Order: sequence, then C-alpha cells, then structure tokens
Amino acid sequence: SGGADFVVVANRLPVDRDTSGDTPQWTTSPGGLVTALAPVMRENSGAWIGWAGVPDEEIAPFDVDGMHLVPVTLSAQEIINYYEGFSNATLWPLYHDVIVPPEFHRAWWESYVHVNRRFAQAVALEAAAGATVWIHDYQLQLVPALVRALRPDVSIGFFNHIPFPSVELFAQLPWRAQILTGLLGADLIGFQRPADAANFRRAARALLSVTSRGNRISVPADSEAGTEAHVAEARAFPISVDTSALDAQAREPEIIARAAEIREELGDPELLLLGVDRMDYTKGIRHRLKAFGELLADGLLDPEKVTLVQIATPSRERIDQYQQIRSDVELSVGRINGEFSEVGIQPIHYFHHSYPREEMTALYRAADVLLVTALRDGMNLVAKEYVACRPQEDGALVLSEFAGAADQLTQAVLVNPHNIDGLKAEIVRAVAMDPREQRRRMRSMRRRLFREDVQAWSQSFLSELEALDADKDRTS
Ligand code: G6P
Repeated sequence: SGGADFVVVANRLPVDRDTSGDTPQWTTSPGGLVTALAPVMRENSGAWIGWAGVPDEEIAPFDVDGMHLVPVTLSAQEIINYYEGFSNATLWPLYHDVIVPPEFHRAWWESYVHVNRRFAQAVALEAAAGATVWIHDYQLQLVPALVRALRPDVSIGFFNHIPFPSVELFAQLPWRAQILTGLLGADLIGFQRPADAANFRRAARALLSVTSRGNRISVPADSEAGTEAHVAEARAFPISVDTSALDAQAREPEIIARAAEIREELGDPELLLLGVDRMDYTKGIRHRLKAFGELLADGLLDPEKVTLVQIATPSRERIDQYQQIRSDVELSVGRINGEFSEVGIQPIHYFHHSYPREEMTALYRAADVLLVTALRDGMNLVAKEYVACRPQEDGALVLSEFAGAADQLTQAVLVNPHNIDGLKAEIVRAVAMDPREQRRRMRSMRRRLFREDVQAWSQSFLSELEALDADKDRTS
C-alpha cells in the first residue's frame, strides 16, 4: 500500500491546465472544496485522486501547492459513457427530481462500473495502512464498497454534493440496489440536507431491506463483494464557503474600486440585479428571466433604472439537454433585450463564460440583489458567496427554497421559482426592502456563515468519521 494517510477521491482534480506559458502548467482552481481540504492534505501527507479533464492522456502523479495529485485517465469513450452519459444524463437529472427525463442505457452503466473500479484501485494503491479515504459525489457512488473490499483497514467517508431523491424517483434506476450497496460501503455517508439523508436511509430500507436505527444502518456481510458486516452512518453535513477569505477579499481597495467601475461601465443603473450559475437546467435561469421580463412589461421595474447581469458559465456542453437550456436562455435574453432596449439602455447583460475569482467578488460587491432561483440544488454556494462578499451588510438575497442553502440562509427572501407571480412579488419585495431590514437580515446570515464555514464543514465530517472509527475499534 502507498504512503498517503489522507486520500481525497473526486471525479475532478482541483487543478486547471494553464497553457499560457512556454510549458503547460497546473494551477489549483479556486473551488471551496480544495480550500477546505488543502490544509488537511498538507498536514497529513494527503493525496487527491481525480480526472484531469482531458481525454486519453496518461499523466504521471505530480505535486501542486504541497498536495500530491494522482490523475485517473478517462478514454474518449468513457467520457461519453461514464461522465456525459451515466453521471450527467442519468444520475444528474434523476437526483434533481427529473426536471428533465433521465436516460437509462446499459452501456453507460457498464462504463460507470468500470471507471469506479479504476478509481477504487487507485485508492487501494495510494492509501497508507489505516488511512482516511474521503470520496466525493455522484460520479463515484460505487467506490466506497469497492474500496472496503480491497482495503478493509481504511476508514471510508463519502459526501454527496447533490440532492438525494425520494425513493419513489430513485426506484426508477435499474441499478438502484448496486448504487445503494456501493454507498453503504462507507463508514460515514454525508448529505447536504437532513431530507437528503432521510431519503437515502428510506431507500436503503425499502430497496435493500437493511435495518436502521436513527442515522445508523446495519450493513450485512457480502460474500460476493468480499466485505464484512458493519455499521454505516448517514446524515447531513451542509457544505459552505471560505467566509473569512471572501469577506477579506471583498474589503480590498482594488475590489471596491472594481465594483464601482463595473456599475459605471453598466451605465450607472440605480439598481443592479445579478444571477451567477453554471449553464444548467436545474438552476431556474428561464424562470428568473420570465419573471424579470414580466416585471419590465408590467412597469414594475423600469429598464432605464434596472440592469440584470446574468453570468452562465459553460458546462457539459456536448449533452443535448445542456444545448437545449442554452438555446432557451439565449432566446429569452434576446427577446427581452429586443423588446426593452433603447440606445444606451440594455436591461440584461448576459455572459456565457467564466470569470476569475476577483472579478466575481467585485460583481457580488457591486450587486444590490442576487437572484438564486434553482429548481433543485444540493447546496448552491453562489448564495453563500454573495453573503460572504457583503461586508457592509447591505443588499438582498432572493433564494429558492429548493436549494440546500435555504436551510442555513433562512433570512433570505425565500421563493418557489415555479410560481412566477410569487417570484415576481418577492423580487419586488427584495428590491423595495427597507435598508434597515436588509441589514438586519444580511447581518444574521453573515453571522451564521462565519460560524458555519467550509473549514467547520470538513472538520465536523472528518471528526465524526474518526469517532466512528474509534467506536469500531472499541466494539470489535
Ligand atoms: C456540481 C457537481 C460537481 C461537479 C460540478 C461541475 O457542483 O456536484 O461534482 O464537479 O458540478 O460539473 P462538471 O461536470 O464540470 O465537473
């Protein structure tokens, strides 16, 4: 066995390939997960196993920012079947309450099994004796049980970043038993919301007839898989952001200056609304545009005074449903702008590309209202980022009750994005809200996010995993 005492496993490595210089280099991408886990990795000789985002290339393990990164190669066909197919055209829509119909294809499933095995084998090679292994997200749900069979000595955690559906929907999946068995290979299975964890425990009881008590599920021995009986705990650990880092960045003079410049470049609107999403049908971008367009038509928002900046970063672009949502969004933006623009006035500024961290922080600082209207979302970190980037405690957050973040950000203006009239009324309410009321809400949300930041999230997950491990040693 290898040398890492702490192994993170995720579909993607936390790096981007930087080809601007003479020789291509890797830089860590500024995601919340890597911010939270990098310190733990450095302290514990950690390794991160994942895909580098390119087809076919065999890349040797390398070190970045004191982390050991171990690339897993995906062939072009595996990208089609495992990544675009089973992960993102079967599981993603199924787990997001079938907003679009999931597709079930046996060839996709076979590729998913195959790739999950390769990830598990990489873990078995990298993990030191008694290591802690933390597996992330829906692309790798078979890895926990596969690792348990290969390496019964390690402690296994799994965290699902997206929702877990009700058993009525989950039961559609032809390979539902295999997925549940895969997840139950972990000692600790983390979800975003208590409702997700409850859905999982219910599915396990209903479809595998395992027994559970509270959060604990008794998993029987599996002679075929080669695993012993054990207890798995399933409960919520809501993920968060690096609140103090975002807050500090939002206070930098350059960021403040850039925020002012952005408003100026937009023609100094009285009111700046902002939407920030991956271009995904789960995000409710169409519903948001519908509400905004109707508010302009109703005369409740004035195109001379209000600007909506909508950033939709490119995502999973070869999948049909992602091409469809992009067309729908672009049609809708074009129609609204066509109808309400005048020379020098454009109600929607739409961007289909990503921006560096600093520009995002400046945008959050510049915006009066952030619109998060997801139809279903595991957490939605954009909502938390906005709150963290408001050191002056002003601004309003319109937040879908179908995003996990609604459990923590209870002082947001909560909406059901399917109800267009309700959404319109709540946008108007957020826009017109008394500044003292805005401040009271923003302050309370910020206080909570400073306590419940991404460091607290990873610490509570890992200390629970450690406690379970200690329990196991005591009772065996
Ligand atoms: C969601 C998923 C992640 C995924 C990310 C970006 O946040 O929970 O697992 O990495 O979207 O999607 P992509 O398909 O580009 O990795």
